[in-house]
Amino acid sequence: MITTADRQDRYTVFVCRHERAAVDRLRAEIDGRRVALISDHTVTRLHARRLANALADSGLEVTATSFPSGEASKSMATATSLLDWLAGTALARRDIVLAVGGGVVIDTVGWVASAYMRGVPYINVPTTLLAHVDAALGGKVAVDHATAKNLIGAFYQPKAVVSNVGYLRTLEPRQMRAGLAEVIKKGVIASPELFEFIERRHADIRAGDPATTARLVHGASVVKTSLVAKDPYELDLRRPLNFGHTIGHAVETVTGYGPILHGEAVAFGMACAARIAERRGLLDRRTRARLTNLLAAVGLPVVLDDLPVWLDVPAALGALRQIRKIRDGVLRFVLPVALGETVIADDVTEAEIRDSIMAGAAGYGRLRTG
Ligand SMILES: NC(=O)c1ccc[n+]([C@@H]2O[C@H](COP(=O)([O-])OP(=O)(O)OC[C@H]3O[C@@H](n4cnc5c(N)ncnc54)[C@H](O)[C@@H]3O)[C@@H](O)[C@H]2O)c1
Ligand SMILES: [Zn+2]
Repeated sequence: MITTADRQDRYTVFVCRHERAAVDRLRAEIDGRRVALISDHTVTRLHARRLANALADSGLEVTATSFPSGEASKSMATATSLLDWLAGTALARRDIVLAVGGGVVIDTVGWVASAYMRGVPYINVPTTLLAHVDAALGGKVAVDHATAKNLIGAFYQPKAVVSNVGYLRTLEPRQMRAGLAEVIKKGVIASPELFEFIERRHADIRAGDPATTARLVHGASVVKTSLVAKDPYELDLRRPLNFGHTIGHAVETVTGYGPILHGEAVAFGMACAARIAERRGLLDRRTRARLTNLLAAVGLPVVLDDLPVWLDVPAALGALRQIRKIRDGVLRFVLPVALGETVIADDVTEAEIRDSIMAGAAGYGRLRTG
């Protein structure tokens, strides 16, 4: 005898420009239940304490905690202490965990929510651009392990995402640029309209114009949620969302996750993948130049010398060899062929990768030909 069980996850992504609207929406989602609000110290000081007070003033029972900011907190140690903290609260099975912060808070708290009482509902309130357009959406939750990033995690969808772009006004410009890299990626892989929108409006976005930023976040969330809906558990390894991430991950690995922000590494990875595509005759020169020009205009790295720290290229190639080994000898590249269209290549050679990384680097042309 066989029984089949279907499941479907559905949640609303609400984008607004003011905390007032965010509070109204959160109240509707929370619907009178208890709230355990978790954030990091920086976001608590800037926004989360005020948000907790606003929710409490509206009559909700709110309890809150925070942990130190930064990737080092995305750990089992933080998760364990949050589970201990939750166990000491009155939070029950149908009450709400509220994750308020960047990707570190959202990934860690989402994973804790997935484990506590076999899963309590959680709502994401992203506060970095990267979290608005990426981490808060899709239900991938995890903490890091000493041997690998995101090693311990789950797929656990939020009950809702409440995106107030007003929180971005306190974000450092460098973090805004890194977040934009992930939106440009979504434009290249799935939405020429989104790409063109960023081409026209990136100065307004970086200046923090709320209406433009809200449109950007909405556009990005439409692309991400529709791509995730096709494959929520990532069974298909040929994912266009990985555009820029193959070389990007190698760059982050050899520079030790930190000196180069994820979005910066992805921007460089996209520029490299576009050069590989152009050399293969898959992507025309004009479109490749449009992509690298937009990344550069935003202030993101497109050639080796743009990276904020020196990159050990042989070590990066070694990291890619290692990834190829782990994945049964296959290194998968998402290559753009036009705006909104990509192909997957399994046969990119180390020479092509090296050339794409070294292209435009000071002295490289001279060394190669001399
Ligand atoms: N789950 C996913 O699908 C997914 C997708 C992309 C990235 N991620 C993860 O996200 C993490 C990176 O996220 P991030 O870039 O948001 O980093 P982060 O959460 O560390 O935030 C960056 C810094 O900005 C501060 N900050 C947050 N909001 C602020 C605000 N409004 N004003 C001023 N400062 C603010 C934080 O305290 C932190 O110091 C990585 O761990 C990555 O693996 C997850
Ligand atoms: Zn990414």
